[in-house]
Order: sequence, then structure tokens, then C-alpha cells
Amino acid sequence: MPDPVSRRTFLATAAAAAAAGKIRSASADNGDAPRGGPVAISSANGLRAVTKAAAMINDGADTLDAVVAGVNIVEADPTDHSVGLGGLPNEEGVVELDSSVMHGPTHNSGAVAALRNVVYASRVAKLVLERTDHAMIVGHGALRFAKAHGFEEQDLLTDEARKMWLRWKETHSDRDDWLPPPDAPDNGKQSRAHSGVQYTYGTIHCSALDTRGDLSAVTTTSGLSYKIPGRVGDSPIVGAGMYVDNAVGAAGSTGRGEAVIKNCGAFAVVELMRNGASPPDACMAVIKRIADHTRDPHLLDDRGRPSFDVKMYALAKDGRFAAASIWSGGKLAVLSNGTARHEDAAYLFKRPEKQ
Ligand code: GLY
Repeated sequence: MPDPVSRRTFLATAAAAAAAGKIRSASADNGDAPRGGPVAISSANGLRAVTKAAAMINDGADTLDAVVAGVNIVEADPTDHSVGLGGLPNEEGVVELDSSVMHGPTHNSGAVAALRNVVYASRVAKLVLERTDHAMIVGHGALRFAKAHGFEEQDLLTDEARKMWLRWKETHSDRDDWLPPPDAPDNGKQSRAHSGVQYTYGTIHCSALDTRGDLSAVTTTSGLSYKIPGRVGDSPIVGAGMYVDNAVGAAGSTGRGEAVIKNCGAFAVVELMRNGASPPDACMAVIKRIADHTRDPHLLDDRGRPSFDVKMYALAKDGRFAAASIWSGGKLAVLSNGTARHEDAAYLFKRPEKQ
């Protein structure tokens, strides 16, 4: 059993040291830090997130506070179906959220998984980092922990997301008793196999770097749409959905979490950068590794390529950044040199033209 008194003493000492700038000074002499202001990168749905994160860093905020505040905008947006309010639910119509955060200067992390009824999963993950001696809390425990910190419960299933889930429920199988409405254009058993229902692994990742060379990262998601309840993806797994080494860089992922977990995606990107790879080379090497390691026939197309997508994001300590995906057409959101924009992600395979 840890001694609570000595742990408290340690935490108080650490807090005092941080307040006095002693912890920060470990990276303050970094010669690689970007000269043109902070750099923030995100998945394509994070243009507002990188803008917010960089603005906060410019005002003196810590990089972790900044990236979490950035993704909070998207978590609260009911029109983004990849995360938080309006996220697509599990197969029972319940939204379950996963998130992790990592703070470069202290190399500390926090995560929650299968969290229900709380919009800001990333804030709860940050509280796991700040207010517990644990790295991850899941399910009912995560909800109880959030409520202990004053979060209010709220139904995260918006009417639009409920209708999307209902469409999936009524069309994904012709062997159950759920039927689409009689006037639906694709009503009927024959059309169910071609219902066009999209599964999504949508997620938001955000990493940021300040001018001292300090980094933090967050990834937050409602995970795979229509998943088995309790399914946990890569987003809350430190080293898969995101990872930071303050001496090297930060990385994160979006897309099929099962593939990222099996390849320790974000950790691998950071390790490749540690060994000298540039951010684009590190991202592409991990994307290739994921493609090479995908052997299940049900996950391969007729040419042996993954039928799913994954995107890896990297932000090096010197401010260089990149993203790469399995399939073409992806973008990342970036703020550097004071300008927020989208940039193209590199890709392994060109997506076939739509017929
Ligand atoms: N990358 C998000 C998920 O698979 O849950």
C-alpha cells in the first residue's frame, strides 16, 4: 500500500516545484523549440481546436490545458458525429466515449474508456492525470469519477445520431425483425445489403508545441459506430491513440483503432522520430507497418490492401509535423506561424475513383 501521507507530501512538493518553474526548466533550454510561435496539429475536424489551442498557448497556457480546451469545442458540437455530444452510439443506441491525454513536461497521462453521459471525456481523462494515481478509469467507474468532480449526466444521443443508428439497425441485416419504413427508397430485404450505412471510427486528435519546446496531446472519440457495448478503441490507450515524449515529439491516430492498438501506433511514430525519422517518414512507416500486418481476409480488398483507413499524426519537438493515411484524400488541421489551415496527408494507396 502506498503511504498516503508521503504521496501527498510528494505531490505538494511537485506542485510547488512546478509553480516555481523547476519542472519546466527541464525543457526550457531546448534549442529546437519553434521560433514562429506555437504549433498545433489535429485531425481534419480540428481546425477550431488548433486555433483555440494556439491562442491559449500564446496567452501563456500550458500545452495540455490548451489541447484539451481545443478538442472541447468539437466534443460539444452536436453536428460532429465522431465524439462527445452527437457521437454515434454503440449497437444498443448508447454513446460511449474514450479519451486519453499526455503532458510532455511531466510525462504523465490520464485516460477514460467506455464513459457514458459526460460530454467532455477529455476533461475527465485530464482529471485522471491530475487527481488520481491511476492511468485509466473505465465504464461505471469513469462515470462515478466524473460525477465526483461535478460533471453532470446528460444524454449524448442527439436526434440526428439516433436516426442514423436506427437506419443502421433497420438495414444492416436481413435476418432480424427490424424493418425500414415502408416509404424508404431502399426499403426491402434486397436493398439492405446495399444500404450504404457508413461505419465510422471518427475521432479527434490534437497535439501542441509551445515556444519552450514543451508538448502535450489529447485524443477523444465516440469510437466505432454501432460497436459492441464496452468495445474500447485506440484513443484512450497511451502509446496507441496518442503518445508524447517531451524530448522527441507527439503523435496520435484516427481511424480503425484495432489496427492502431496492434501496432502501438503513436508510440511507434515517436520512437521512429527518436531514431532520426522525419515526421512524414515516421507516420508513413507506421502506416505501412499496419498495412503489412493486416492479414485477416475480411479486412482486405481484392488486391490485398486494408479495406479500412488509419491516419497517423506527428509533431516533432522542432515544430515539423505531418500526417499519413492508408488511403488518399485525408487532411490534417494545422496551426503554425499564426495561420490555421488544412493540409493534405500523405497516403499509401490512392482511393479508387467513384463510379
Ligand atoms: N480510432 C477510434 C476508434 O477506433 O475507436
